[in-house]
Amino acid sequence: MKKFFPVYVRVPVLFAIFFMAVEFCIDSGDRPAFIKYPMVSVILLLFLFVLIAMEMVLKATNNILNTLLTEEQRKQKEIEENQPFTESAFYKGIMQKLTRSRKMEEEGELMMDHDYDGIKELDNVLPPWWVYLFYACIAFAFIYLIKFHVLGHDDQKAEYEKEMAEAKIAVEEYKKTAPDLMDKEKVTLLTDGASLAAGKAIFETNCVACHRADGGGGIGPNLTDDHWILGGGIKNVFNTIMEGGRDGKGMVSWKPIIKPSDIQKVASYVLSLQGTNPKDGKAAEGDVWKDDSAPASDAAAKPADSAKVATVALK
Ligand code: HEC
Repeated sequence: MKKFFPVYVRVPVLFAIFFMAVEFCIDSGDRPAFIKYPMVSVILLLFLFVLIAMEMVLKATNNILNTLLTEEQRKQKEIEENQPFTESAFYKGIMQKLTRSRKMEEEGELMMDHDYDGIKELDNVLPPWWVYLFYACIAFAFIYLIKFHVLGHDDQKAEYEKEMAEAKIAVEEYKKTAPDLMDKEKVTLLTDGASLAAGKAIFETNCVACHRADGGGGIGPNLTDDHWILGGGIKNVFNTIMEGGRDGKGMVSWKPIIKPSDIQKVASYVLSLQGTNPKDGKAAEGDVWKDDSAPASDAAAKPADSAKVATVALK
């Protein structure tokens, strides 16, 4: 065994195994663990030192034991150690098949005629293991060529693009059901028909019992006038529907039941009812609401104008 794995093989192999195990076990992202974590380098070095130290100790103990042996025993041991490594017939057969090497005595037949200042050359056959490997490469090249360039199977780039497209669909799918990211700060008034229609549908299933189909009010206040108990404008209305009304008044928080983005729609729908003045509407409650944060009407046009100017300037 010792002949098979001399110390200069044993130590590097053990170290390499340990190294790979460490790299495999530690998740260090795109950089090797021993670079990312200096501690790992230290441990690797320690391991190497221990390996070398162990070899040295082994050698030393072996030497000490040798001195304790009698002359005869020592000779016996030497003979044992120097016995040539005997290979099995099976191993020999395989090696012969893979290398087709000729015996040293037959080299005369292989010698080529050239003689370059005493340097001669043997005409050995290509070793079969190498030739087979070469054929395998050719076969692989053919299969590769046909698969990717004739049949047009996906190469890495196509695979990547496909996976990205799939992931995109999955994200869209996820977004449909996931609690979305609409909140009081981001919410805006929706005015497109589809959103208002969706808002109306939500209103009709959830809200009409208390606010009436036309928003004129019942248990809940009239939503069509410009008086608001809890504040008007999209942000306040959105917030009221999300969080509910004052304690004990009967307006629950709707966020466990309706998705925030749908609450945005129903809030927009509620605001679209402003001024519709339904018949027998409930008397106004709360205060007239004025949006202080919104700029005055002529000022409101300004940002759009300046944006226009900016785009013109860019051109
Ligand atoms: C169980 C009856 C009930 C239901 C159902 C109900 N509300 Fe209300 N809602 C109320 C009451 C009561 C108030 C007054 C709360 C308060 O005074 O704090 C109110 C207040 C409001 C306000 C604030 C009004 C203001 O003047 O500030 C809005 C907006 C509103 N509801 C929208 C909705 C929407 C949208 C739905 C359906 C998703 C809904 N409500 C469902 C009872 C209800």
